[in-house]
Amino acid sequence: MSSVTVCARFRPLNSKERRDHGDSPSCIQSVDSENFIFKDGKEEESMFCFDRVFYQESLQSDVYDFLARPIIQDVVNAISGTIITYGQTGAGKTYSMEGPSILENKDQNKGLLPRVVEGLFECLKLDDETIKYTVKLSMVEIYMEKVRDLLDLSKDNLQIKECKVLGVFLSGVTEISITDAAEALVHLSNGISNRTVGETQMNMESSRSHCAYIFTVQQESVRDTRLKTGKLILLDLAGSEKIEKTGAEGKILEEAKTINKSLSALGNVINALTDDSPGRVNHIPYRDSKITRILRDALGGPSRTALLLCCSPSPSNAAESLSTLRFGTRAKHIKSTPRGNRSAEKVPRKQLFPSPTKDESCQRILDKLSEKMKIEDVKLLEELFIMEGIISIQALGADSESVYEDVTLKTITTLQQAVEEQACVIKKLKRENRYLKAKLLLIQGLNFDQKTAERHSQYFWKDLRGISSFLRRILEFMRLKKMSKLAD
Ligand SMILES: Nc1ncnc2c1ncn2[C@@H]1O[C@H](COP(=O)(O)OP(=O)(O)O)[C@@H](O)[C@H]1O
Ligand SMILES: [Mg+2]
Repeated sequence: MSSVTVCARFRPLNSKERRDHGDSPSCIQSVDSENFIFKDGKEEESMFCFDRVFYQESLQSDVYDFLARPIIQDVVNAISGTIITYGQTGAGKTYSMEGPSILENKDQNKGLLPRVVEGLFECLKLDDETIKYTVKLSMVEIYMEKVRDLLDLSKDNLQIKECKVLGVFLSGVTEISITDAAEALVHLSNGISNRTVGETQMNMESSRSHCAYIFTVQQESVRDTRLKTGKLILLDLAGSEKIEKTGAEGKILEEAKTINKSLSALGNVINALTDDSPGRVNHIPYRDSKITRILRDALGGPSRTALLLCCSPSPSNAAESLSTLRFGTRAKHIKSTPRGNRSAEKVPRKQLFPSPTKDESCQRILDKLSEKMKIEDVKLLEELFIMEGIISIQALGADSESVYEDVTLKTITTLQQAVEEQACVIKKLKRENRYLKAKLLLIQGLNFDQKTAERHSQYFWKDLRGISSFLRRILEFMRLKKMSKLAD
């Protein structure tokens, strides 16, 4: 079974297309809700079959109900999902994703994003009350192979990391906790306006960059402290048109080449995932672009994915629409097994592990631990396993370069922490030392005072004895004097 749901959407003709070809001409002839015939510029006909076709009159809510609603339910059950819009510039990707505006009031015009946040919080409200959910939002833009944080423009070159426990993640990306749909829309709107600021600064257009909206839904069970995560990525890709059509030169040409490179990297990943010709070594070139690295879990990985092919119905754009539809046909053949992150789906033990190797056993232990411990602790353990040679890097299923990067970074951080801790210990010891010295001086001082006091008291008693003998002598003298007076 293919786990990539592929749908095609044809937007209404725009005014230019109407001017060029009149009101009715269209390249498509509908057969039913899944099949249609496409006539290219040379009047050649091709039959296409997708999971669903949304014709010009289709509603935004139709797209949401078919494409996004099931994925949201999965995400709440800790099965990650990805929704991608693909097509040439002006084909309706952003309209499908956001609607005419992200803060659109008219319900029928609302795009996938506002519906997704509403649907997500609806699902969480209805879910098990013994589970505590945390929803976080991140927004990034990929332009010229650089990942920019749209919720913090100072982070303009985020690194993509991969590890077994967290899967693919953006290191240091801003994650905003959101508690309801209205709050989410405010942050989404800020991120989108940041995109415009960046565009003006870089003299670019949104059609030349990819934009990813990432929702992380973390659930903690009150009963057994399990921590499960479902990630939902909505990806509005850059325009897929061929370079020649853009008539680009200079910097724009470079941009167009980079976009084409990343989108063809996406095509190559899809080809590799669908190529099951015998004797082929199954290398999937995920690392060839940022977009394919981010989509690693979505394409052929443990994630549910939906691809919306956005097309113009006009003969003026027939070649681009045909190329979009062919891209979708290939994607339809990707086979992958979506599975719950942190063992959300229970698979019979025997079926999962016929005869576990050492690596598999370690991995299983890590997966089990991730249900009971904090993700950071499990990550640390995993790195310790690698460093100690208990588990091999290949077993992590991640690219070794990235794993080494992770381990090196973690080691440096750990060493820095150790140095800081040592500095604290030294400071503390110095303080104690000073205190002890002071105490010693005080004791010595007290000793000194005691001796003086003893000496003084000796003098005092001596003096007192002197005075008393003197007084005794005076008394004796007076007594003698008195007696001699009496004798007289
Ligand atoms: N299904 C649709 N219904 C009405 N207008 C649409 C539809 N799809 C696209 N449009 C309009 O077509 C234009 C280009 O769409 P847009 O989503 O910006 O294209 P893209 O993001 O693919 O470059 C916009 O003005 C948009 O409002
Ligand atoms: Mg767009």
